[in-house]
Amino acid sequence: MCGIVGYIGEQQTAPILIEGLQKLEYRGYDSAGVAIYTEQGITVRKFKGRLAVLEEHLNKHRVPGTLGIGHTRWATHGEPNDINAHPHSSYGGKIAVVHNGIIENYMRLKEWLNTLGAEFTTETDTEVIAHLIEHYYEGDLIQAVQKAVQRMEGAYAIGVICKEEPSKMVAVRKDSPLVVGIGQGENYIASDIPALLKYTRDVYFLEDGEMAVLTKDNIDIFDELGMPVERSIYKVTWDLESAEKGGYEHFMLKEMYEQPKAVRDTLMPRLDDENRILLDELSLTPEQLNHLKKIIIIACGTAWHAGLVGKAAIEKFVRIPVEVEIASEFRYRDPFVDERTLVIAVSQSGETADTLAALREAKMKGAHVMTVTNVVGSRISREAQDVFYTWAGPEIAVASTKAYITQVMALYLIGLKMAELRAQMPQEEITKIVQELKELPSKIQQILDHQEKIKELANKQIHQHHAFYIGRGLDDYTAREGSLKLKEISYVHSEAIAAGELKHGTIALLEKGTLVVAMATQEPLYDKMVSNMKEVKARGAYVIAVTKASLEKEMQQSADVVFSVPDTLDILSPVLSVVPLQLFSYYMAVARGADVDKPKNLAKSVTVE
Ligand code: F6R
Repeated sequence: MCGIVGYIGEQQTAPILIEGLQKLEYRGYDSAGVAIYTEQGITVRKFKGRLAVLEEHLNKHRVPGTLGIGHTRWATHGEPNDINAHPHSSYGGKIAVVHNGIIENYMRLKEWLNTLGAEFTTETDTEVIAHLIEHYYEGDLIQAVQKAVQRMEGAYAIGVICKEEPSKMVAVRKDSPLVVGIGQGENYIASDIPALLKYTRDVYFLEDGEMAVLTKDNIDIFDELGMPVERSIYKVTWDLESAEKGGYEHFMLKEMYEQPKAVRDTLMPRLDDENRILLDELSLTPEQLNHLKKIIIIACGTAWHAGLVGKAAIEKFVRIPVEVEIASEFRYRDPFVDERTLVIAVSQSGETADTLAALREAKMKGAHVMTVTNVVGSRISREAQDVFYTWAGPEIAVASTKAYITQVMALYLIGLKMAELRAQMPQEEITKIVQELKELPSKIQQILDHQEKIKELANKQIHQHHAFYIGRGLDDYTAREGSLKLKEISYVHSEAIAAGELKHGTIALLEKGTLVVAMATQEPLYDKMVSNMKEVKARGAYVIAVTKASLEKEMQQSADVVFSVPDTLDILSPVLSVVPLQLFSYYMAVARGADVDKPKNLAKSVTVE
């Protein structure tokens, strides 16, 4: 949450900062601001609301300068308003800071700084950073920042400029992401690569505790102890196009349409000519795998839903117990984890604080830790022992779609490979499943080709205040994902419940016309599911059923509307049946006038616990 950028060079910095922030708005959009070094000292402009407010202001009132930092905020400490917006300045006006993360000991630091005479004007934790640096400033910004960070506890990526040293920018990170962009006669910092791509493809990733000191012609990196660090340049290979809307009305729509490609890109490089799975990412030997007692998948939100599907698949393929844990709960309940446990942390961003903390806990307890993530070089990818990258490409919309589908694909592949290594399934059976996995991209495309029907359906349901999603087995997991998608972007209250559990309480909420989305793609559970649909229809619910093509006709007798997805193996059906639910949520949100890509109160990367 929160995005930071910084520029030092010879060009006017304001437009560069704004463009960078535009690419980071997915990280938060409660307020935005810049601090620019001008002839008068450091000029700060910051406003509540979207970046557009700041942009409009800067268009009317230019702030000339070639050194600056910028910020887009997802509020944690202090309500979103102009005052709490970043950048924050120090009491003496020497220092300006942008920050992504949380300073956990800020109250103690604030009290101490107060006794030294520092006056606080905001409710933020960040303001202490500015005052701390000013307090330690004795003519050397690098030393002042080094001293300040030694006092700071928590997570931070910061960009700092100083009125007294206008040829320098300092950046430090710990547990929050930061990339340093390498230009020619100019250099940059940013929370994420898309903010830099217009200017450079050459970047340095900073490790925890490291500091970068940027001038227009040079970048020095220092470790926690202030020792110089040699870092090799990382060349970004993907293009800006893939991080832009490319003609689609929203990133979410674009990303849903990218799902066939994302699935293909995640799958195909991991298959040989004979459809055998190549998984160099899994470093455990067959002996170690045989020795495993259990697997725990840890994740949050949508990634947790992918984990639920992963559990079903891995238990089926490998016949080993799999637990799926909400990351924020995992670490606080002293979980049973030892060296015979494999923990798989699933995270699109690779940055989610809860998942990272759970991963560390598991590692500390001796587990072998693997991650399934979409972001190369992300925090979680660097701390896990094995890394499985989903090749979904940058996901910008806050609501996850293509990343979810590729996470599920990753867990299928991990399960199948483990089944092979533990000789749990005959190779022919694995090959049969792999052949069906290869069909999924074109089947997803078929669903996308019928999106008009879902759009119509959504347009007729925009009056709904509540929705219930029901399903059994794998369909229950997909129902949960569909329900989350609906509420987070359309703001329709929605609840997912195992279909058989409905009659134990929740059914009391059903009234005439209440929307129920019933998932029924699993052949063995079909009859039971139909009974549950009859129960809700008898209470007046309006039922939209999602089933598979071969069951569509039969299903028409039990639902008001039926949407079918192509047939596939039951275990693989979540990859298909989630697509109409994503589209339905999207069109509901659009029809209700919601800001689809940037739902209120949310951010793409949740880097606070
Ligand atoms: C919902 C959504 C979130 C994320 C969750 C974890 O659409 O995207 O629920 O899945 O915040 O994020 P990652 O996967 O980045 O760890």
